Amino acid sequence: MSFYQRSVLPRLIHLAMRQENLLPFRRRVIGAAEGRVLEVGIGSGLNLPLYGPSVSVVFGLEPSPELLRMADDRAARAPASIELLEASAEAVPLDTASIDTVVTTWTLCTIPDAPRALAELRRVLKPTGALLFVEHGRAPEPGVARWQDRLDPLWRRVAGGCHLNRKIDDLISGSGFVIGTLTNARLRGPRTHTFLYEGRARLA
Ligand SMILES: C[S@@+](CC[C@H](N)C(=O)[O-])C[C@H]1O[C@@H](n2cnc3c(N)ncnc32)[C@H](O)[C@@H]1O
Repeated sequence: MSFYQRSVLPRLIHLAMRQENLLPFRRRVIGAAEGRVLEVGIGSGLNLPLYGPSVSVVFGLEPSPELLRMADDRAARAPASIELLEASAEAVPLDTASIDTVVTTWTLCTIPDAPRALAELRRVLKPTGALLFVEHGRAPEPGVARWQDRLDPLWRRVAGGCHLNRKIDDLISGSGFVIGTLTNARLRGPRTHTFLYEGRARLA
């Protein structure tokens, strides 16, 4: 792993993800979590202060040791009980049907094998559980989507594997989930990077 990937990228991810305008999305998604929660790709732990009393424990899964170190402090100060796991979503070290809520915020864009990860999330969710997500992805305008396809190979390289062009709703519903609610929004910024998918899904 290069110096950029090991030391620079985690700091850039933290700076990009702490933007104020993401906070209302974080509040909504995390506010709906309950019971035993698995948050996938917790990054520097920006969601951790937002978990409320309806949550009994949060398993914060993250493959990057540097980001986990940044999350450590927030985990110690969080209102909920937090257990950090150094692992990848493609192989979740938790029991089958042991989780009430899976949370992903701006993570499905980056997981290298997203269908495999979603199969793992399906495995660990209880039959009554929910997948809560807010993600950026493929824009509906054909012209913007074409630019996302063009920029994707370069962007992936500078942004730690982040894809611009994943169609998040198709990815989720093609992986054994039924999407119950889905809202799309656009943030300020380049149209290739700012189309959001926010919603809730359950097991099919
Ligand atoms: C854009 S950051 C978002 C971080 C955090 N979810 C947030 O909302 O601030 C993408 C995250 O996905 C994580 N990630 C990358 N590959 C992953 C994998 N295979 N399994 C789980 N998380 C992964 C990255 O390390 C990074 O923390």
